[in-house]
Amino acid sequence: MNILVTGGAGYIGSHTCIALLNAGYSVIIADNFTNCNRETVNKIVDITKKKLHFHEVDVTNERSINEIFKRYKLDGVMHFAGHKAIGESLEKPLNYYYNNVVSTLVLAKACLKYNVNRFIFSSSATVYGDNKTPFVETMTLLPTTNPYGETKAMSERILVDIANANPQLQISILRYFNPVGAHESGLIGETPNGIPNNLMPYVTQVAKGKLKRLKVFGNDYATVDGTGVRDYIHVLDLADGHVAAFQNTSSGARIFNLGTGKGTSVLELINAFEKANGIKIPYEITNRRSGDIASCYADVSKAKRELDWEAKRDIVSMCKDSWRFEQNLKENTF
Ligand code: UFG
Repeated sequence: MNILVTGGAGYIGSHTCIALLNAGYSVIIADNFTNCNRETVNKIVDITKKKLHFHEVDVTNERSINEIFKRYKLDGVMHFAGHKAIGESLEKPLNYYYNNVVSTLVLAKACLKYNVNRFIFSSSATVYGDNKTPFVETMTLLPTTNPYGETKAMSERILVDIANANPQLQISILRYFNPVGAHESGLIGETPNGIPNNLMPYVTQVAKGKLKRLKVFGNDYATVDGTGVRDYIHVLDLADGHVAAFQNTSSGARIFNLGTGKGTSVLELINAFEKANGIKIPYEITNRRSGDIASCYADVSKAKRELDWEAKRDIVSMCKDSWRFEQNLKENTF
């Protein structure tokens, strides 16, 4: 079966390509390589020893996307491509709305035109806003604090409406919690541009000595130790979740949380990283970061029940694999 993977050279997309190739699928990557390294495509091939196709295209370009749909007999689409930095989305809202929403529209239109029924969409737990934890798929979504989050909520709405009007479609909307970790080979992982916004890449760069100390954004939340609680999920588990979603489709649009169901505070994560890797992480407590919520973790029962999928890797392997990848990165890739 042929699967088009948009953003297949990105962090989550690349790990999912590996899972798909290992499960016997043919993969066609569409990526414009603006926020990732094109070398990743070769690394996917090195790791899996399997061939794949890739096209350097912008997914908002309808003509290029139609060319791909015409050229391959696609059995499904996994749509990862998108801008993802919350802060940047506040500075460049037009870019975010245009890129993230138009790409979804272009792909949905092509799916209908070329009779491709299976569609998997990368959404985010951010669409829950500041709901009460654990987050359940049936909850009413609350406004997010940034355009990035709104593009995800909007794309979800669009896909649900399109699925309702076109019952042949089988759409899975996957709400990711906090993906961390890297492939166990240490060859691919997350490579943020500039100073990382997210906790784990910041921690690994402190461990490497590239950054001096971690700032812990607030210790006065109503959580176990006052620091923010998140549901960290190993990117390899997340990748397996996509394969499970692809293999367990049904008519309509279905929404699944992909997380572990377990909350970990910032201090707990630092502690886990130090223990797993035997490295001290210097940190200081600073003010809260604006837009952050206290706690975010998933109710994972629906994915387990309907996809027969659950996350298997624990926080120790997340910390070890993230660190292994960071150590392998050459200085000039920063
Ligand atoms: N944190 C710090 N210091 C840092 C970075 C983060 O203390 O330098 C804290 C945050 O305050 C938060 C936790 O670590 O409590 C996790 O922060 P991240 O930035 O790693 O992740 P977020 O939960 O804020 O956001 C992530 C993704 C979003 C996605 C969201 C889904 O970045 O794209 O998860 O819940 F929408």
